[in-house]
Amino acid sequence: MYRDPTIRSSDITPESVYLNRRTFLRGLGALGAAALLSACGVNASDTRSNQSAPTNTLRDELGDPANTFEQITTYNNFYEFTTNKEDVARRAANFVTKPWTVEVTGMVHQPRIFAIEDILQMFDQEERIYRLRCVEGWSMVIPWQGFPLHKLLAIVEPTAHAQYVRFETLYDPDQMPGQRDRYFPWPYVEGLRLDEAMHDLTILSTGLYGRTLLPQNGAPLRLVVPWKYGFKSIKSIVKIELTDTMPVSLWMAVAPHEYGFYANVNPDVPHPRWSQATERRIGELGRRKTLPFNGYAEQVAALYAGMDLRQNY
Ligand code: MTE
Repeated sequence: MYRDPTIRSSDITPESVYLNRRTFLRGLGALGAAALLSACGVNASDTRSNQSAPTNTLRDELGDPANTFEQITTYNNFYEFTTNKEDVARRAANFVTKPWTVEVTGMVHQPRIFAIEDILQMFDQEERIYRLRCVEGWSMVIPWQGFPLHKLLAIVEPTAHAQYVRFETLYDPDQMPGQRDRYFPWPYVEGLRLDEAMHDLTILSTGLYGRTLLPQNGAPLRLVVPWKYGFKSIKSIVKIELTDTMPVSLWMAVAPHEYGFYANVNPDVPHPRWSQATERRIGELGRRKTLPFNGYAEQVAALYAGMDLRQNY
């Protein structure tokens, strides 16, 4: 696995530092308990009392341990840089994310261009420990920092006509050599139905493990939609547009029979070229069963009531 020679070994395990800091804060009672819980109601700190050596005891609400900082930052999909997952970190290392603006526009009453600094100031960064299930069959548990997308949308005030949200990644082939590959219709585009975008599980992330997001994970701002395949979680966003037409995502444009608009994690609907019934959690041997809606069915299944999820894949 790739290691950046400029990263000291002490930097490679920041989850230890992070966990210690969380334990310390808990001891102080300096923060409200809510700030230390995952969004899904897990009290991850329960198992952490009297811990002597820092071990990774961050868990999602199913009890699964978080992947390490190193795993999350050295095994990535970011085709703008390379299709080699273990080389994205190195190739994206010098990606310039300052200055950075995000335009929020389209069917809104208050269109606006936000500087990333304003976004960081305006919204409290919450911790959300989510599973990320890649369409290719691997998964991770990631302790994100971020805020619900609905908070940003509330500021621009979608009009009554808005039905979908379209997201766009930066287009800059000088920095992102993968964008010279004519096979893909760059820039990377993704979309959500407005009610999916407004769901509280849907976040914009600015960091993970208590640190600012690194380029390979989609700095400075990326979407995270935990019940959908990972490709919906578009990275390095520069534009968010409210619209009344279903956006055509990059993957829908490239292979419409393989990648639909919804892309809800569904073990019963195989990808045309492989099963989606099981997944390999990075760092584990063997495979685990994939859960409907990636384990978030209780929170999100109602969004799709009455829909044929085989048709709407
Ligand atoms: N966003 C952009 N702009 N380009 C990409 O290639 N890959 C997607 C998604 N977002 C991708 C992207 C895929 S397939 C996955 S699985 C996740 O990012 C991976 O996120 P991670 O590298 O932070 O784990």
